[in-house]
Amino acid sequence: MSHFLELSDISKTYWSADGKTETKVVLPLSLNIEEGEMVMFLGPSGCGKTTLMRIVGGLETQDAGTIDLHGQRLAGPDRRRGMVFQSYSSFPWLTVRGNIKFGTRYRKDISPAEKEEVTDHYLEMVGLTRYADFYTNRISGGMRQRVAIARTLASNPDVLLMDEPFGALDAQTREHLQFQLMDINRTEKKTTIFVTHDVEEAILLANRIVIFSSRPARIVKEIDVDAILPPEARRSGEADMARFMSLRSEILDIIRAEYAHTLEAV
Ligand SMILES: Nc1ncnc2c1ncn2[C@@H]1O[C@H](COP(=O)(O)OP(=O)(O)O)[C@@H](O)[C@H]1O
Ligand SMILES: [Mg+2]
Repeated sequence: MSHFLELSDISKTYWSADGKTETKVVLPLSLNIEEGEMVMFLGPSGCGKTTLMRIVGGLETQDAGTIDLHGQRLAGPDRRRGMVFQSYSSFPWLTVRGNIKFGTRYRKDISPAEKEEVTDHYLEMVGLTRYADFYTNRISGGMRQRVAIARTLASNPDVLLMDEPFGALDAQTREHLQFQLMDINRTEKKTTIFVTHDVEEAILLANRIVIFSSRPARIVKEIDVDAILPPEARRSGEADMARFMSLRSEILDIIRAEYAHTLEAV
């Protein structure tokens, strides 16, 4: 059976400049993701999550292994995989609106008028309508991050890759965007891989959580969160708190154990 996104036996090793020291970052690693699924990646810092995301996004080449999307082999970056990074990236020579509209530039599924509507929609979603005409060097870092998120959503990629996108945002903005993302997951069924180090964020947003080992990254555990805490209940804030807390501590224990391995390796 073929899956929407299939990572098969992906491995990656970095070599020092003199070619003498190797850093194995990703072991032969395989993972299948279904259409519409929101998969959260958790794992100790430095284990290789960003590297894996960059490989899936086509920004980095794996040493071995394959990636298939809709049964098609992927090679190199293309617009089907939209990526939001931890650090802000926006075009300072464009306004907030211009940056978000840029995301729609290559879309062929909508008309020019619809591109304007999509731009307005995401502008509002990230709460920047009032700043639409500001250049992005005139707004705060957190706002720039919202611009980057809106631009990527506006581009409507088949797979949304989010690498700790909310890490630097204030608590209110983060919560707002978490709920917006849950809505997108529910209404648009957007296939998403989302890296976070925030266990509660992972439980809130996930259909499934994948926990990685310390470097080189291998999958330690996969958790079907939907089976434990129904998404509707999480969305409405009525999730079973006892189950939430026990899942949280189960995950924290796994990460702590992995983090201990990281320290031993130093
Ligand atoms: N371009 C690179 N060259 C050499 N080493 C790298 C490079 N990118 C990342 N690394 C190393 O690979 C390891 C994993 O990094 P990363 O994927 O960023 O981890 P994570 O996102 O899980 O924190 C780290 O030890 C990092 O120093
Ligand atoms: Mg990272």
